Amino acid sequence: MVSSDSILQVANVIKNYSVRKGEPIKAVDNISFEVKKGEILGLLGPNGAGKTTTVKIICSLIRPDSGTILVDGIDNFQHRSKALGKISAVLEGNRNIYWRLTVRENLEFFAALKGYNPKELKKEIDYYIDFFDLKDKEHETANKISRGMKQKLAIAVAMVTNSEIVLLDEPTLGLDVKASYEIRDLLKKIAYEEGRTVILTTHDMNVVQDICERVVIIDKGRIIAEDRIENLMRLFQVKSYKFILKDRLTDEQQNQLLAIPHLTLLETEDATEIELNLENSQTFYQVIDILRIEEDTVIESIDRQEINFEKIFMDILGRSDEDAKDLAVG
Ligand SMILES: Nc1ncnc2c1ncn2[C@@H]1O[C@H](COP(=O)(O)OP(=O)(O)OP(=O)(O)O)[C@@H](O)[C@H]1O
Ligand SMILES: [Mg+2]
Repeated sequence: MVSSDSILQVANVIKNYSVRKGEPIKAVDNISFEVKKGEILGLLGPNGAGKTTTVKIICSLIRPDSGTILVDGIDNFQHRSKALGKISAVLEGNRNIYWRLTVRENLEFFAALKGYNPKELKKEIDYYIDFFDLKDKEHETANKISRGMKQKLAIAVAMVTNSEIVLLDEPTLGLDVKASYEIRDLLKKIAYEEGRTVILTTHDMNVVQDICERVVIIDKGRIIAEDRIENLMRLFQVKSYKFILKDRLTDEQQNQLLAIPHLTLLETEDATEIELNLENSQTFYQVIDILRIEEDTVIESIDRQEINFEKIFMDILGRSDEDAKDLAVG
């Protein structure tokens, strides 16, 4: 079903790369998803999952073997320039900048390529030069600025023409902490205030948790999960606790505790740490009962551990691997 508020529809896209020896690589293996206008979508997955290939297909740098991409309803191969007019992209390794042009010339040149008179965009160009602290480098050629500055320039080039969809392949890679936060704020601003759509790939789960509303997780060219972050957090949430005890435990207590699934025990000379991931709260009381066997077991603290998206992401990938193994066995 095609929903009317989708600005991007990726349908049944397949891309195989032929290799000299052996089977072709199924880089993208029948992927479909949609993105709504004004949404920030994270395209996630381990190395080699097919993220960059998908991004390149969306901005029609490579042609899929089959499947379609509709940009605001326009087929990106049949009406390439019309569809591309709505997209700007920041590709891996800042390939959207010219190293022999200066910082300012890059911004002007790519604006002109999109059909703008650079003079019309002077305000925007000045804004992004300032925003990314590139003022004292504006007349330097791009090959002479630092790697992080190149990345900032690549992002500025993608932002400056106000295109409806901004695609970013690992935008915060190699950036310092301050710049990473600035880019997150910028992406939130263009999505929430200007209604532009942001699609990004990243391995930084802090970035995902901070700005993505929804994620599409791919592994080996296939989608293995797709949902709003908050739903995935709820779905995969296991409660996690850390107990700190003042003394060592008796052998009997240790044996009983170690029989509990998802529990790890760390004994030092004069203290014990227990980490527990709970799927139901009954286990929590079971731990308390075991500690209670000895009257003088003193619980120093019990802390609820914070669950983060990184852990959930790892769980999703782990479960997908298990499923693949089961299929292979079955
Ligand atoms: N030009 C190419 N020729 C042959 N195989 C390729 C080519 N580009 C990518 N591949 C293969 O396609 C698969 C998907 O690669 P892709 O670059 O899309 O992964 P990715 O998810 O972006 O990974 P990463 O997180 O490392 O950037 C990998 O197995 C890769 O080796
Ligand atoms: Mg990649």
